[in-house]
Amino acid sequence: MAHQSIDLKKEQQYSLNMPKYKYSLISKMFFFGMDVIAGKKDDLPKAKLLEILASIPYRVWEIRHYMKQTRKYKNTDIVQISANIINWGRHAQDNEYTHLLVIHEKMKEDGIKDKWYLSSFATFFFVVFYVVTARLLAFFSQKRAFLFNAEFEKHAEQVYARLVEDNPQWEKQKLTNPFVKTYADVETWSDVFRRISLDERDHMNQSFEFAGKPEQVVKYQGMPESYYKR
Ligand SMILES: [Fe+2]
Ligand SMILES: [Fe+2]
Repeated sequence: MAHQSIDLKKEQQYSLNMPKYKYSLISKMFFFGMDVIAGKKDDLPKAKLLEILASIPYRVWEIRHYMKQTRKYKNTDIVQISANIINWGRHAQDNEYTHLLVIHEKMKEDGIKDKWYLSSFATFFFVVFYVVTARLLAFFSQKRAFLFNAEFEKHAEQVYARLVEDNPQWEKQKLTNPFVKTYADVETWSDVFRRISLDERDHMNQSFEFAGKPEQVVKYQGMPESYYKR
């Protein structure tokens, strides 16, 4: 995707001042649970936990829809819809995993230690819980699963926009890490996290579209319509 014409600072301001969105009860409960585990304040370890969970729904849907494609191989429409979900899901889960690695690099650079909830013992339980939730949601309603994910991604977009605001020192920290440069070839760490925030917006937009709520899609300033066509 061509991101050259995106004004990262402007989009961050939009994320921070987004019109209020009415989150569903399940999302509110999930965010509350995250606050109880990782504290109310957003920081890098908490974002790490978010990223550990973020790829899970995409992986669950990918497997589900591969199975569906096999069951319904005679129905080309169903096969195509599943193919769209699989292709998107594969891209999105790789993207979420890259976010995890980028946060890890930043924490290493700053000497920030993992918190208790990032131990492999603790994350095991969070991951199992989230896998079960994602599977149940997709089993009962794939649409509802997309909607919950859209809300998760909207929340994530705002978390990163706020992180940049809360860490003004990132503005002066030049990006030298070669791996992170391959993710986003930008000048400062602030812009790296602004870019992550917009990746979450992309995930949200696509989730809303798959959930049948295209009116919730948040467009970028000055981007052509073709950008939003899948
Ligand atoms: Fe992410
Ligand atoms: Fe995401």
